[in-house]
Amino acid sequence: MLPCFGEVFGNASSRQHATGRRAAALVETARRQVADLLDCEPSEIVWTSGASESDNLALKGVAEAYAHRGKHLITAVTEHRAVLDVCGRLERGGCEVSYLDVDEEGLVDPESVAATLRDDTVLVSLMLANNEIGVLQPVREIAELCRARGVLLHTDAAQALAWVDCRVSQLGVDLMSISGHKICGPKGVGALYVRRRRPRVRLVPRIEGGGHERGRRSGTLNVPGIVGLGKACELVAAERREDAGRTGELRDLLLRLLSEAVPDLTVNGSLRHRLPNNLNVAFPGIDAERLLAELTTVAVSSGAACSDPGAGGSYVLKALNGVDDPSGRSLRFGLGRSTTRAEIERAAREITTALQRAPQPLATEVAASCGDPCADAGGWG
Ligand SMILES: Cc1ncc(COP(=O)(O)O)c(C=O)c1O
Repeated sequence: MLPCFGEVFGNASSRQHATGRRAAALVETARRQVADLLDCEPSEIVWTSGASESDNLALKGVAEAYAHRGKHLITAVTEHRAVLDVCGRLERGGCEVSYLDVDEEGLVDPESVAATLRDDTVLVSLMLANNEIGVLQPVREIAELCRARGVLLHTDAAQALAWVDCRVSQLGVDLMSISGHKICGPKGVGALYVRRRRPRVRLVPRIEGGGHERGRRSGTLNVPGIVGLGKACELVAAERREDAGRTGELRDLLLRLLSEAVPDLTVNGSLRHRLPNNLNVAFPGIDAERLLAELTTVAVSSGAACSDPGAGGSYVLKALNGVDDPSGRSLRFGLGRSTTRAEIERAAREITTALQRAPQPLATEVAASCGDPCADAGGWG
């Protein structure tokens, strides 16, 4: 990225001069790196400022472009706010949105999608991996259902891309949101995959102006960010398998050490269908916020950087068991690709000590979650 702040400072849209063309070449290399990871054509990648913008473009762009065909969309109650808030806006604009429930493991049943699809459904939006509990939705099965009914499927893969296979050719999705900072790339850059063939997905742009990105998203490109996102995708392609295996083992170790200290601890969400770097656990009878206050070296935070859980606690955890404010007992740990065994052991020790230091009064239900689902200290989200 560094040369883009100096020697290659050109505007990637200024193709008349060499400096601009050099910047454009870097952008196209990055587009190829992203496309290789997603197994799509470079022309199917639209640069954005991150997954929030990608989600906005996907949902609003499709809803407007296909309004003549229908105004019904389907999503799930545990989606990221960048999808749920957009759905709310679309509803206020005359669309109808069905919100699917999840089971106690946090999973959407493909049959519930099948039962909710209608003749006027234009888009289904379901995330690949949840940002709080890390559970992986059965997107591939749902894609088959959607395809059979001629309905487009969008997935927010921001959390998944670093850890699981996100090839659109395998998943069968029509639109996919990704974000740089979730894969150790830069913040403030992302992309939207938009299928160009069978079917060709049409989008009404959200940002109009110079007609950049084939008219799908105007604005001068963030060349350093794009270069960083491209490189991060290249590294994910090369290292994901090994990173995921090692990180999954460390996550399991963390769970084992915590369970030894707190035998009645429970895992929120499916452990089997889950990102290898995520652990979200409930400590019965414990006030998670007070526990967090006791920690000094473990990088955790109360609530998500991207959405304030507010007084009601986590809507994701509530969706699992219908209980109001269950998150007061829950901590969310996000491991990174650089997390070591020694760090896991130290974290478990520090948490165990904190529990011993303040064991008795930690019984009130206060909303808290731990491990920032959006951008943790390891830059891994
Ligand atoms: C699943 C998911 N979607 C969207 C976002 C928003 O991404 P960005 O911050 O790149 O806009 C996040 C997290 O922050 C996320 O976890």
